[in-house]
Amino acid sequence: MPISVVVSDFIDAMVPDPFLNQNSAINAARKRVPAPYLKYQVTALVCQATGGPCQYIGRTMKNSHAHLNITEAEWDRMVVIFKEVLAKHKVPGSEQQELLEIVGSTNGDIVMSGAAQ
Ligand code: HEM
Repeated sequence: MPISVVVSDFIDAMVPDPFLNQNSAINAARKRVPAPYLKYQVTALVCQATGGPCQYIGRTMKNSHAHLNITEAEWDRMVVIFKEVLAKHKVPGSEQQELLEIVGSTNGDIVMSGAAQ
């Protein structure tokens, strides 16, 4: 299963999600940023993180998410959506684990810190 297919479904599930869009900053950004752009960037990031050969040339996770004020609850919702997409595509357990670890490693840069409030 190509990474791009899983990422594409993941973005398609994230963008219209009612819980995430209760956050007005997320809702505004998804209307402004084209989904195909996000699919391209996230695919390159995951491809690079899993060994290449792609190169991610987008912004850092901190720079691209700071203005979204993402909470721990919104993060948890994202993880639920991600797991649903992995299960739907029957991604093997060991690869699911690897992908969840890659995503998990970005939590500190993506979820807003108390100090930033
Ligand atoms: C609750 C969790 C998340 C939400 C709601 C979210 C939402 C968004 C939004 C709205 C943007 C566009 C921001 C803008 O340009 O104004 C964005 C960009 C991006 N996100 Fe996320 N994101 C989440 C988690 C993640 C995770 C876990 C990853 C990767 C492991 C990721 C990777 C990216 C990348 C690569 C970009 C593009 C950066 C660039 O434009 O250079 N995001 N995200």
